[in-house]
Amino acid sequence: MKYFLSKNFMMGASAAAWQTEGWEGKKPGQESLIDAAYKVNPDRWYEGYGPTIATDFYHRYKEDCKLMKEMGLKAYRTSIDWSRFIKNYETGEVNEDAAAFYDGVVDELIKNGVEPIICLEHWELPNQLFEKYGGWNSKEVVEFYVKYAEAAFKLLGSKVKYWFTFNEPIVFPELAIMDGIWYPYKSDTQEAMQWNYNKVLANAKAVKIYHEKDYGYQSGGKIGIIINAAPSYPRSQSTDDVKAADMYDLFFNKIYTDPCIKGTFPEIYFPLLKKHDCMIAVTDEELAIIQANTIDMMGLNYYRPNRVKARSAAWNPEVKFNPQYYYENYELQGKKMNPFRGWEIYAKGLYDFAMILKNEYNNIPWLVTENGMGVAGEEKHKDADGVIQDDYRIDFVADHLRWLLKAVEEGSQCFGYLMWNFTDNVSPYNAFKNRYGYIEIDLDDNRNRRIKKSGYWFKKTVEDGYFEYDGFEPVYK
Ligand code: BG6
Repeated sequence: MKYFLSKNFMMGASAAAWQTEGWEGKKPGQESLIDAAYKVNPDRWYEGYGPTIATDFYHRYKEDCKLMKEMGLKAYRTSIDWSRFIKNYETGEVNEDAAAFYDGVVDELIKNGVEPIICLEHWELPNQLFEKYGGWNSKEVVEFYVKYAEAAFKLLGSKVKYWFTFNEPIVFPELAIMDGIWYPYKSDTQEAMQWNYNKVLANAKAVKIYHEKDYGYQSGGKIGIIINAAPSYPRSQSTDDVKAADMYDLFFNKIYTDPCIKGTFPEIYFPLLKKHDCMIAVTDEELAIIQANTIDMMGLNYYRPNRVKARSAAWNPEVKFNPQYYYENYELQGKKMNPFRGWEIYAKGLYDFAMILKNEYNNIPWLVTENGMGVAGEEKHKDADGVIQDDYRIDFVADHLRWLLKAVEEGSQCFGYLMWNFTDNVSPYNAFKNRYGYIEIDLDDNRNRRIKKSGYWFKKTVEDGYFEYDGFEPVYK
């Protein structure tokens, strides 16, 4: 069957500064929290690779932009590395070399016909602000972020029309502050909730400046936030399973989508935190800022659905509160899996979340800012010419796109699809284990770039304005 893309539909790809640039050009002390995570425990990163060189985008961005043109990419999202861009994190003074670099990247994208989409924080919080102030736990850091955001708008506002304040702001609080999986390995739900809240506040303050000052909003620029939200499916329709799914939805979707899109937190949220002795520092003045400064568009990173069920055992009262108090994860039998990442593949989830945005979030304009498939050992899929035959990725993208197009047909205001990633990239802790790109990065050969079969598929799809898909089932092994 043929699926048609409208002319203005933004077909592109996404990346992040820290996952591609490498550390070249960074001055001493200019490291981000995720850089620090690697420095502290390189042993926990797959085969010792980390952000040090990454894909060497810092030196090779012109080559990458040329490849984008060759492939017909309409848009490319990346981030500014806050820890690189700002020289004095407290005053917001800019590092001129870094400014020249980001200016150069944006110019190069535009020169190659690619729309630049810029995110201000893809976990690149300066480590100095973490060490001195406790990172996003601090309201002072909110103010430092706002200074940084304004410096970025000032530099690039005349060229960049799509801005995002944060990428997946929940991930660090969840994995590093609440669940102790990432550095700094904390297990403190209250602090994690404070990080989340302060990021929502920082988002609103950055939106306010972008809207009120003349950095491009008046001439059609847009600002939003990227959230890794997904439908929360209960195991069954029983009251307890549905409640578990609602609570999951609250703690992992709505504490961002509600305040950022509608201006208010769900009514039950703060009372719940109080009930569990986890209440955070919130003022009426801050809530008013959040209410008055909602986003223009949303970015959705969708990889997999959430499946939950009611807990079968009571919470251990000696363990401090964690949202898991309300749910357990549910393993759907027979689910389609990406075995390398351990994530379920469920393309219809994208359609379902599109309908949630349409029906419950004022049909806000949005785009898919990430969706993709990380696969290990791709070199074994090379053909005689050395081109990786990643049919599984073509299947993944086509299947998600067709569900997305169905949502658009039904009135969802989705205006683009950015695959993760343009090239292979460094993942947090998994480093180069699972490959995500339309373009291979050859680690054994000077990080050379080679377009994969999926990249040629992308090019043809953009040129033709449609793709054909009949839902084949590829072998993932
Ligand atoms: C998203 C992030 O969560 O998923 C990316 O925004 C990340 O930074 C991507 O790389 C894929 O996940 P992972 O952990 O396999 O790299």
